Amino acid sequence: MPTATIVEVGPRDGLQNEKQIVPTPQKLELIRLLRAAGFTRLEVTAFVSPKWVPQMGDHETVLRGTAPSEGLIRSVLVPNERGALLALAIGVEELAVFTSASETFAKKNINCSIAESLQRFRPVASLAARHGVRLRGYVSCSVECPYEGQIAPEAALHVALALADLGCGEISLADTIGRARSEQVNALMRIATSALPTEKLACHFHDTHGHALDNVDAALVNGIRIFDSAVAGLGGCPYAPGAAGNLSTISLATFLEKAGYSTGLNSARLKCVEDFARQLVA
Ligand code: HMG
Ligand code: MG
Repeated sequence: MPTATIVEVGPRDGLQNEKQIVPTPQKLELIRLLRAAGFTRLEVTAFVSPKWVPQMGDHETVLRGTAPSEGLIRSVLVPNERGALLALAIGVEELAVFTSASETFAKKNINCSIAESLQRFRPVASLAARHGVRLRGYVSCSVECPYEGQIAPEAALHVALALADLGCGEISLADTIGRARSEQVNALMRIATSALPTEKLACHFHDTHGHALDNVDAALVNGIRIFDSAVAGLGGCPYAPGAAGNLSTISLATFLEKAGYSTGLNSARLKCVEDFARQLVA
């Protein structure tokens, strides 16, 4: 059976937008249950400014509390060298930098232009290479932006190529506000896969308008096999008005398995972590 990889982003993208900050022990229990469900790719927290995203202010404790284990890739979001240094001092398998295909969104989310963000990522990329850890790059608003509207696929590709040049081994193209339609995703995937190897690309869909699974389908047709999702469909971005939950992991896993892809996840344990995640934010 062919395989598809799910990158679980619930502990980070899922919890960063919750009004009530989820207590650290509950976050660690969520991560423990996710590991038990069989995830090998887990985005556990974000080493961002606690002034900007207080929900991730316990990043050091969360990463310290998530022990390494064989086959597990613990990833953390980092906006700059400072975040990378803090995470590497604890130990991590992947750093994920994030910028945008929209200038306005970059400014609102990380307080700099796209070009400046790429400059900021240079020392992060050097650190990742020096420490032998993976480097992932996100392109937010790769299809639609809450401030600028529709984004040209060429603009998203331009940023994806810049991230690849920087050394990102995987680039996640994100529909940050869940407004993309499958025709738009298809157009983006067509040009992205003509310029970059499919195994370097991932898709990150939010499900605000219920289009996420159609968009997964469009990406699958174009050869994408890595998808981000959040348990119980938690989440959203505090700087993207209208960004509701991420694509729910159970919906994604069920969809992929029906489409003939193995995800390696244990469905009973996934249900159990889903129930736990729901009551965390109830
Ligand atoms: P800034 O205010 O321009 O920069 O923020 P600064 O250097 O002046 O830093 C401000 C304060 O933060 C300072 O503290 C720094 O020390 C501290 P003060 O001196 O005032 O006490 N600081 C840090 N603290 C901890 N860790 C760090 C760090 N860096 C600075 N790494 C900055 C610029 C990038 C830091 C800020 O804008 C920021 O942290 N933004 C993050 C926003 C964010 O996390 N958004 C949500 C995640 S992105 C997302 O959800 C999209 C995604 O899911 C894909 C998709 O769906 O599109 C990935
Ligand atoms: Mg997101």
